[in-house]
Amino acid sequence: MTRVFSGIKPTGEVHLGNLLGALQYWVEDQHRADSFYCVVDLHALTTPQNPEELRAKTLDVARILLAIGLDPEVCTLFVQSHVHEHAEMAWLMECTVSYGELRRMTQFKDKSESSEFVSGGLFTYPALMAADILLYETDRVPVGDDQRQHLEITRDIAMRFNSRYGDTFVVPAAAIPRTGARVMDLQQPTDKMSKSDDSPQGTVLVTEDPRSIEKKFKRAVTDSGTEVRYDPENKPGVSNLLAILGAATGRTPEEAAKGYGQYGPLKSDTAEAVIELLRPVQERYQMLADDPGQTAAVLRSGADKAQQIAASVLARARRNIGLLSRP
Ligand code: TYM
Repeated sequence: MTRVFSGIKPTGEVHLGNLLGALQYWVEDQHRADSFYCVVDLHALTTPQNPEELRAKTLDVARILLAIGLDPEVCTLFVQSHVHEHAEMAWLMECTVSYGELRRMTQFKDKSESSEFVSGGLFTYPALMAADILLYETDRVPVGDDQRQHLEITRDIAMRFNSRYGDTFVVPAAAIPRTGARVMDLQQPTDKMSKSDDSPQGTVLVTEDPRSIEKKFKRAVTDSGTEVRYDPENKPGVSNLLAILGAATGRTPEEAAKGYGQYGPLKSDTAEAVIELLRPVQERYQMLADDPGQTAAVLRSGADKAQQIAASVLARARRNIGLLSRP
């Protein structure tokens, strides 16, 4: 059976970009693959975090993942730091990737330019991500477009390790959706929608109140002219709305564009589609919030299950790279 692995950082709020670019495919994949999904709290530490907030957020993101439809009966949901093999494997990855490869990562360049404190962990971030993926003999990694480069470096690390030390890892492939892989900010449609607080009016949260969602779509920046057509280069605002409408209703943006002659109806229909998509998610989220023990129990058994696989793959990697086993 195909093995799927993916992760999400417990920083900021889970937004529509996360859902349309990645999370909704996690839900689909759980029924056709052996799927492992991880709240990557160690990755959150690459930028300074408030300890109490990080703990709360980690549980909250897990709750959102259950609310969107992950079923712990069919997939494995766990927290990265509960399986200590991730941190240990990351060191083997750091020693397999080159400084030059890490330096070329565009996310590192972007983030290090805009932050005052640049941690060593921010630089070696892709090595930890490679560890996450390779620990589970992963075939496929469903992610949004912004993770493409991280997946390429993971493949390079796996192939280099295999050729240096013998067959150890499965070389994974990225699964990037055709629609929704890059949801843009509603106010700045040339920037991707993101978890940072820079553009609250441009970001739609998964837990957001329907009235507020409606307002944000109404005020979404569109382009000059009136024609509704999917053309991301010349019409980034309208194209983003079409991509969202398409991804939320299982159509391509071109199909979603049919029948619109004006921006107004496109905005209100997109808002409605998003509100409808989120309605059951928000209901389940509320129910889970009333019973925090339920989410904790899922994470406990998820970590146990994940660790069994992670421990055996790590043992193989340790052996192949030449670490003496503990007498
Ligand atoms: P993160 O937490 O930033 O995002 C989680 C997922 O959401 C996707 N995404 C988007 N998709 C479409 N449009 C957007 N505007 C948008 N913003 C985010 C991301 O592509 C991602 O799939 N490095 C990863 C976490 C990670 C990981 C892993 C992922 C750590 N280890 C192993 C896969 C496998 C990240 O920061 O995702």
